[in-house]
Amino acid sequence: MRRGKAGMLAIVVVIVAGVVALACSGPAPAEGTEAPSAEDSGGTVLEGAVLLEDRCTECHDLGRIELASKTREEWDANVARMVSKGANLTEDEQAILAVHLTETYGP
Ligand code: HEC
Repeated sequence: MRRGKAGMLAIVVVIVAGVVALACSGPAPAEGTEAPSAEDSGGTVLEGAVLLEDRCTECHDLGRIELASKTREEWDANVARMVSKGANLTEDEQAILAVHLTETYGP
């Protein structure tokens, strides 16, 4: 009995694994297992562009940001101000984001 159950379980696992493998290999076969930057398993910091879309669109859209043109100091101050309003960013993330903002929406 136990053996039979375990056998069934093994078959189910193999089928599920096969389906998952098929699903993954379908649309994007050559994609590596690890994305080069963003989606991580927690703890690691995210890229500026990801942070921007993830943390800066809760209260307003990116329109405000795209219209802006600021120096690094101004972006630092802006990001700090948004954090004081409630934006959810660690200090490391604030620095990464300020660099990204300056490169993208610099003076
Ligand atoms: C908790 C809500 C909230 C979040 C999250 C937020 N903002 Fe804002 N933001 C505001 C409000 C409210 C205003 C308009 C009032 C003001 O300018 O102080 C604003 C205005 C702005 C402006 C226009 C004013 C200026 O200083 O040029 C920019 C640019 C901006 N935000 C950038 C950002 C960035 C970058 C992020 C991500 C770090 C962010 N915001 C996240 C609430 C937020």
